[in-house]
Amino acid sequence: MTPHTVAGSPPTGSRVALGYPLRPPAAPSSVCDAPAHAPNPHRASSAASVTAVIAAAGSGERLGADGPKAFVPLAGRPMVEWSIAAFRAAEPVGSIVVACPPGHVHELGGRDLGVVEGGETRSASVSSALEAVGTELVAVHDAARPLLTSELIADVVATLVGDPGADGAIAATPVTDTIKQAAPPATTSAPLPGVETVSGALVVESTLDRGPLWAAQTPQVFRVEALRRALGADPDRVAAATDEAMLVEAAGGRVLIHPSPPENLKVTTPLDLRLAELLLSARSAQ
Ligand code: C5P
Repeated sequence: MTPHTVAGSPPTGSRVALGYPLRPPAAPSSVCDAPAHAPNPHRASSAASVTAVIAAAGSGERLGADGPKAFVPLAGRPMVEWSIAAFRAAEPVGSIVVACPPGHVHELGGRDLGVVEGGETRSASVSSALEAVGTELVAVHDAARPLLTSELIADVVATLVGDPGADGAIAATPVTDTIKQAAPPATTSAPLPGVETVSGALVVESTLDRGPLWAAQTPQVFRVEALRRALGADPDRVAAATDEAMLVEAAGGRVLIHPSPPENLKVTTPLDLRLAELLLSARSAQ
C-alpha cells in the first residue's frame, strides 16, 4: 500500500502521517454506553479476530456536500476517520479495509489500513473490500455512522460468537415512532363544483405493530462464508440491498440483533450532520 496522510485527531484538523498501533490508548469514549445497553456478557470470550469493512464509497448527494459524504469534515476530522478510530480501539478487530470512492483512495492510509476502490452500489463496495478479508468474521460498517464506539463493536461481535448457529449479528435500535404504510390514492375523486381538492397526498393503508420492529444499524458482523454466499445471490437483489443482513436473511441465514442506542445515528441530511457534530464534540469534551 502506498503511504498516505490523513487528518489527525480533533480539534486541530491538521494532517498527520498515520502508522500508530491498532489500539491507541485514547479510545473514543461512548455515548453508546447508556445503562439500558449493558455490555454483552459474552464480550470477554470474544477474542476472535475480526476484519472491519467500512463502506465509505457513497456520493452523499442527500447531504448536499461538495464531495463524498465519508470525507465531509465532522468535528475536526473527515467523517470516516471516526469509524476507523473506533475499529482501531476495538479489542476483537485485527485489520480494517475501507471501500473509498474512486479518486479518494489515496486520502486514507496507515500501516494497519487497507484501502480499496468502492463500486457503483453499496453491495459492490462491500464485495470489493471483502476480497481483502482473510478472517472468519467480518464487521461491516457504514462510514455514515460516525458515532460508532469500540464497545458496540465488541458487543455485536460477542453476540455472534456466543451463538455458533448464527450467521450474523447486527446493531439495531427499537422503533419508537408509529409506522404507517401508505400508497398513492387509488382513484382521484372528481372535485365538487366550486370546491378545490387537495391532491397528491399519500393515503394510509395500515399502521404496523411497532412492537417487533427494529431499525437496523451497523456494525453488522457476519461469518465471512455466509456473507460471501449472500453477496453471490441474484445480482439485481444484491444491488438493491440497503444492508448486508437482508441478503444473509434472504439466503436463509440466521441473524441476531444486538440492541444499540439511537445515538449510533446515520448521517444522511444536514440536520444529521449537525447532530453528529454536537454529540461528537460533547464526547471529546468528556
Ligand atoms: O447512501 P447511504 O447513506 O445509504 O450509504 C450507506 C453507506 O454505504 C455509506 O457509508 C456509503 O459511503 C456507503 N456506500 C458505498 N458505496 C456505494 C454507496 C454507498 O460504500 N456505492
